[in-house]
Amino acid sequence: MNETSQAVAATRGQRVAINLLDKIDLIDGHWQQRVVAEMNDYQFKVVKIAGDFLWHAHADTDETFIVLEGELRIDLRDGFVLLRAGEMAVVPKGVEHKPYAAAEVKMLLVEPRGVVNTGGQQNDRTAPNDIWV
Ligand code: NI
Repeated sequence: MNETSQAVAATRGQRVAINLLDKIDLIDGHWQQRVVAEMNDYQFKVVKIAGDFLWHAHADTDETFIVLEGELRIDLRDGFVLLRAGEMAVVPKGVEHKPYAAAEVKMLLVEPRGVVNTGGQQNDRTAPNDIWV
């Protein structure tokens, strides 16, 4: 069993606490989302970000942002939502959004398995899916 499959096995069990900030500390770069758990068809992904992302939308699903550390601004075409540690927001499906972090933000994303982080586009900011940490 390699490290990843051990992590998957452990987090799918019921008796293991998943420490989200500890998981994020294992990630090397920014914008590299990693799965920490699944619930039915949904994934819980941790990520740390800094700077500006791209405008995008998810045609088939809402997207949940839960901020653990830092201050996240989610730009929307008609305004923005500012989230601090302990706060969350749900971006409805089809709504264009652009995450922005003036300084590093650590957060948890909740969305169905298979969602592409850049929405309907594939580009150099598109991160691979289904990598566990
Ligand atoms: Ni998104």
